Amino acid sequence: MLNAHLVPPSKWVARSQGSIICLVCGIAGYVGERNAVDVVFDELVKLEYRGYDSAGVAFIEGTGIKVLKKAGRLSELGKLLGETSPTSRSAIAHSRWATHGGPTDVNAHPHLDASGNLSLIHNGIIENYLDLKDGLLQRGHKFLSQTDTEVAAHLIGEEYEKGGTLEEALIRAAKQLRGAYSLVLLSAIEPEKIVAYRKTSPLVVGIGKGENLLASDVPALLPYTREVLVLEDDTMVVLTKDSVRYLSGDGRELPVRPIYIEWDVARAERGGYEHFMRKEIHEQPDVVRQCLAGRIDESGQVRLSGVFSDNVWNEIDRVNIIACGTAYHAGLLGKHLFEKLLRLPTDVYFSSEFRYGDPVLSPKSLAIFVSQSGETADTLAALKLCKARRIRTLGIVNVVGSSIARECDRTLLTQAGPEISVASTKAYTAQVILLTLLALHIAQVQEAPGLRIADWTEELLALPNLIQEALAHEDQVIQVAELIKDMPLCFFLGRGPDASVAYEGALKMKELSYIPTEESPAGEMKHGPLALVQSGVVAVFGATEMATLDKVVSNMKEIQAREGTVVAITSDETGTVRKAADHTITMMPSRLEFLNSVLSIIPMQMLSYHVARLLGRDIDHPRNLAKSVTVE
Ligand code: F6R
Repeated sequence: MLNAHLVPPSKWVARSQGSIICLVCGIAGYVGERNAVDVVFDELVKLEYRGYDSAGVAFIEGTGIKVLKKAGRLSELGKLLGETSPTSRSAIAHSRWATHGGPTDVNAHPHLDASGNLSLIHNGIIENYLDLKDGLLQRGHKFLSQTDTEVAAHLIGEEYEKGGTLEEALIRAAKQLRGAYSLVLLSAIEPEKIVAYRKTSPLVVGIGKGENLLASDVPALLPYTREVLVLEDDTMVVLTKDSVRYLSGDGRELPVRPIYIEWDVARAERGGYEHFMRKEIHEQPDVVRQCLAGRIDESGQVRLSGVFSDNVWNEIDRVNIIACGTAYHAGLLGKHLFEKLLRLPTDVYFSSEFRYGDPVLSPKSLAIFVSQSGETADTLAALKLCKARRIRTLGIVNVVGSSIARECDRTLLTQAGPEISVASTKAYTAQVILLTLLALHIAQVQEAPGLRIADWTEELLALPNLIQEALAHEDQVIQVAELIKDMPLCFFLGRGPDASVAYEGALKMKELSYIPTEESPAGEMKHGPLALVQSGVVAVFGATEMATLDKVVSNMKEIQAREGTVVAITSDETGTVRKAADHTITMMPSRLEFLNSVLSIIPMQMLSYHVARLLGRDIDHPRNLAKSVTVE
């Protein structure tokens, strides 16, 4: 074995902005002596646990490329393959989680270029695909699908026709693409090689003997090899059966330094982490990038496609956000934004209350349904009620093609990738980011006075790095977790947006660790909950809002005066909070205070995770809970 060593998960994560965490679609590639079609199909099966809505494969048939693809389960693609049992020495395959264009046969990958000689699979989002598509249409290209991928295939095909190798064409084309993506190509002109480019979206190469493989995630490779090259950001590979060339984005040769993977398959599915929850917590920088991708233009303006037209936004007089659990907590932050930025009256309802509450609804109101799964029974029932009353509906949903995504008048996708841990983490962050983008979009339409959209979008774009920094406080969080694990009760407190985040922090703690929690705005403590404070009780404060910091510090004193212990999560760099609290986690601040509240959920998620771990809880499957609550 070359360079045999095990890289711990933390190092994998730190490796690049993108890490090896795979958010969305599954990618597979093979070149070698075996039947490549069988191998890539098998790779997709190994990636099946991550969820998808369609799948396809491209392989060499005679002197051309053959593509077979199908919406639905992999077994549907399997049936198609079973009809002809194709063989090929090279193939690429893809399982898709739809972003641009619905989950249909036509939108499934691979896509072909104009000549039909080049096939492409793709993970991530090409932000400027509409501009590129316009140019290609003017040059006579015709498109079959609604995807950004087909646009990229045509663009690369155009470059390929200008001459040179496939990798040279890809380098030229990649310079024209904006976004976070990975691209994998198979060409009938150079049939014995696979070329791939990584820009943020993960790609790994499996190095074999007389064969080489490619995948979006390590588990797909493990039946074939444990020697793996993890592509860095902005690099590419050229695979033949006997060689792996590793190149920089501008074509310079780079050393191939594989690592040896010792994880079993189950652990590899979790990206090397012990639990999906920890993996998903650490995915959040990428989740935010993915959620923002294509939604902020070069001048810093928000570009949300698929929402209502401008005259509708000018007419709306009230917003109702309707959701359950964690999604409801994201809605609470939405209320802050809609009211503060837009002065638009906003209520947040639990779906289960809304559906039976006979709500008073203005005909000009907008109902926003927030849901990771898009299948939550109460939220779906509330949506039906609004539709029956002819109220405009908008979904903020993670699962494309889900009931809520289908039934809302308009739907925005959070693009957080499949969330497998029962406790929601990354979906929450993506929901909050999308609500922020929506508020900014409406502000732009309404020309909200005094609001500089570009300041907001600049800070949103900086958020992934701040989340990464917040994740780096894990050791401090573990120390606090040691303290909390034996406590009978844990408070979660804050003011303004920090109070909304405190609700979510508390939900995570109770569902994972089973430690009872009390959560409330800090100012409410003296109206009752303070009676519960005594020695041995911990209060976790979100303390990011500067305007109320003195008040929050006073609330901390109230806890300490009754022998409770105060843990503060703050972005205050003046030392005020640190002096007041017993334990402080200080995050690097955003210039936008609201985003500091959003950031504070990261230490809270890690805290509940580590308390649960120390208590030996079943972290990915807390007792009595299900991932998707499709019954009342
Ligand atoms: C908590 C959690 C739940 C869900 C709630 C709504 O960690 O995951 O509270 O947020 O069941 O589910 P969705 O978002 O699928 O509608």
